[in-house]
Amino acid sequence: LERTFSMIKPDATRRNLTGAITKKFEEAGLTVIASKRVWMSRREAEGFYAVHKERPFFGELVESMTSGPTVVQVLQGENAIAKNREIMGATNPTQAAEGTIRKEFALSIGENSVHGSDAPETAAEEVAYWFSETEIVG
Ligand code: GTP
Ligand code: MG
Repeated sequence: LERTFSMIKPDATRRNLTGAITKKFEEAGLTVIASKRVWMSRREAEGFYAVHKERPFFGELVESMTSGPTVVQVLQGENAIAKNREIMGATNPTQAAEGTIRKEFALSIGENSVHGSDAPETAAEEVAYWFSETEIVG
């Protein structure tokens, strides 16, 4: 079984969507094997999103990720990485397919409710960025 890293962003925790979003993952056959609520620091947000540091929206991204609590999770299941990204939908909610989290809940491309790892290497890095092995119960 594959593991991936998922994050419920501040725009969603603020609107009490933690349960509704988690339910979509569980309904798709993904199991939450680690979960915690974190209000990330600027330093943590900049580190997590370091690959985007030259992008024009980086400042805005760090602002929104530190604007409130997030819920970080590890999801496990068959093809967890691809499945999670399919359930999330396109980055820009105006392009997200019907039934996806971003179609249903996202407010804009910046406040798009969720993050999910895009490949096995980034999944492993992102899981390790937020969790110690003892916090993950598979
Ligand atoms: P993640 O799962 O969050 O990595 O989304 P993604 O892989 O679909 O998108 P990408 O890695 O390209 O961008 C990372 C995050 O930066 C997105 O989820 C958005 O929240 C944010 N982002 C991307 N493009 C824009 C933009 O044009 N404007 C703003 N404000 N934010 C953006
Ligand atoms: Mg990405």
